[in-house]
Amino acid sequence: MLRLPAVVVNFKLYPQASGTKAVMLARMLDSVARETGASVAIAVNPLDFHQISEAVDIPVYLQHVDAVDFGAHTGRINVELAAEHGVSGILVNHSERRLTISDIEHIVSHARDVGVDTIVCTNNPAVSAAVAAIEPTMIAMEPPELIGGDISVSKARPEAITETINRVKRIADIPVLVGAGVKNGEDVRKAIQLGASGVLVASGITKAHDPVNALKDLVAGMM
Ligand code: G3P
Repeated sequence: MLRLPAVVVNFKLYPQASGTKAVMLARMLDSVARETGASVAIAVNPLDFHQISEAVDIPVYLQHVDAVDFGAHTGRINVELAAEHGVSGILVNHSERRLTISDIEHIVSHARDVGVDTIVCTNNPAVSAAVAAIEPTMIAMEPPELIGGDISVSKARPEAITETINRVKRIADIPVLVGAGVKNGEDVRKAIQLGASGVLVASGITKAHDPVNALKDLVAGMM
């Protein structure tokens, strides 16, 4: 299980975080984790997974898997194959890759069976509470309207963070990450003060002119 609090960086399909550049970015983030002692994980494209995981020590997650068993499925990836390839975890139900609740349950339960962590993304406190019943390793609540923007969830929706944490805790003891618009250490500090166990971030790192210093600033908010 990922050490908490943590910063999880989703590489998405940003050109700055895909292919050869993904490996370079992953190495940079790995060096910050080593230097600062902070817990950092990354979520990458499956095509980049092997090259990245051979280059870094930080946990490497996939951004998605499909809720299918082995068999006649074309162009799919399942949890079991991801586990065989050594992934540390899987982002599930990201806002840009929504799933049905039964698919989420399938992925989470199969991941548990093969010892792979799951971070299930949600869009609000009520959906977070519903997902808590499935007992993923972590939940990451991200208001979709703030994703990719410059105003963080900590600043724009602090009440959604506390409500999510309270509703999740009533159902199961599952760490809650928050994300959307996270850009600096202050955003991270505020999220943690509100009870979050870390942040899920993308553009604040992947599109930063200086990803090393951008990540150093973010992790300073956890210290
Ligand atoms: O997966 C994290 C993501 O959805 C948040 O994106 O660019 O607002 O940090 P961003």
